[in-house]
Amino acid sequence: MNKSNKKLKLAIICSGGNSPGMNNAVIGFAKKCAQCNIDAYYFLWGYKGITNNDIHPCNLRYLEEFTNRGNTIIGSGRLPAFATDVNVRKKAVKNLKKNGIDCLLVVGGEGSYQGAYKLSQLGAKVIAIPATIDNDVNSTQYTIGFDTCLNQVSKLINDITDCFSSHDGINLIEIMGRACPDLTINTGIGSNIYMVTKYNILKTEDFIKIVKHCKSQGKRAINFVVTEKIYGTNNLPTLASIAKKIEATTGHMTRVTTIGYIQRGGTPSARDRLIANYLVDKAVDLAKQGIFNKAVGINNKQIVAIELKRAVTMKRKSHNRYLVNKFNKINLQ
Ligand code: ADP
Ligand code: F6P
Ligand code: MG
Repeated sequence: MNKSNKKLKLAIICSGGNSPGMNNAVIGFAKKCAQCNIDAYYFLWGYKGITNNDIHPCNLRYLEEFTNRGNTIIGSGRLPAFATDVNVRKKAVKNLKKNGIDCLLVVGGEGSYQGAYKLSQLGAKVIAIPATIDNDVNSTQYTIGFDTCLNQVSKLINDITDCFSSHDGINLIEIMGRACPDLTINTGIGSNIYMVTKYNILKTEDFIKIVKHCKSQGKRAINFVVTEKIYGTNNLPTLASIAKKIEATTGHMTRVTTIGYIQRGGTPSARDRLIANYLVDKAVDLAKQGIFNKAVGINNKQIVAIELKRAVTMKRKSHNRYLVNKFNKINLQ
């Protein structure tokens, strides 16, 4: 019940690039609401669905069929105008009010959090839940989808290594993450691969030095994992041109593999499913207590909630630079 003793009415969206586990957040939400006698709704396609009033009641029996599926059955989406045009956001707030939504749960990444905060500034009540393969939400140590994506990337890299071992080859493997190097670093450490991130941008000569060094020790396939959107921007050469130079200099077949969207698919890992359920459970509990405009997340393995306003302005605490230096063992000097 809300303060006026009316049945509570909550809605959920998934926003930004999809991540495995978003379905589990939506299903967990529908289940928890059913248990608590709360009316549960979803908008299709993220913020776009709110502005188009594309609202639907949650049918738990239908939704739960998607528990094992990696996508989000309610659709995720990007709506750039939401960031730039206050009238688009006002329309969303109007639709939330028109539908009597007491609180909107936004499941998404850093950009979606900004959108949620701006909605709250216009009077909507919101709670943000972190979900993106990038792990780039500053207010939480973990985002739903990261674990599945990391496993997916690690598995693909095993296969790429098999392939390149047979050719004595070199592979520059570009993985997603936008500006955030977490996927690269966790892949690099776990799969024992040289990682190239914004903290240690290599010159073409550096790649060649590493290749020569490893080959002199008899290494067969040599992989590098490289965060996307570094090379080919900011006056840096493309990975393709670096690969050509490595091959021309060392004589070893060198290729670029951009793993691409296969990273964002895949059945959600047990970890992502669990965390999605815990985070949504916390968010609905907050709404039940009339506590809004919070960001839920994970801090030191605990489910926590902080002010959304603080969440969107926080700086990130990370050991990433340290990790890159510690686990990239080859000395270039
Ligand atoms: P993610 O949430 O995964 O980081 P995006 O950055 O694409 O994904 O953001 C998802 C959506 O959130 C955007 O398409 C836009 O609708 C909204 N959004 C992003 N940044 C802002 C912003 N600064 N202000 C308001 N809304 C934003
Ligand atoms: O935010 C998730 C993500 O997959 C990033 O890692 C990547 O940079 C981006 O989305 C790709 O965006 P798009 O789907 O617009 O190509
Ligand atoms: Mg993002």
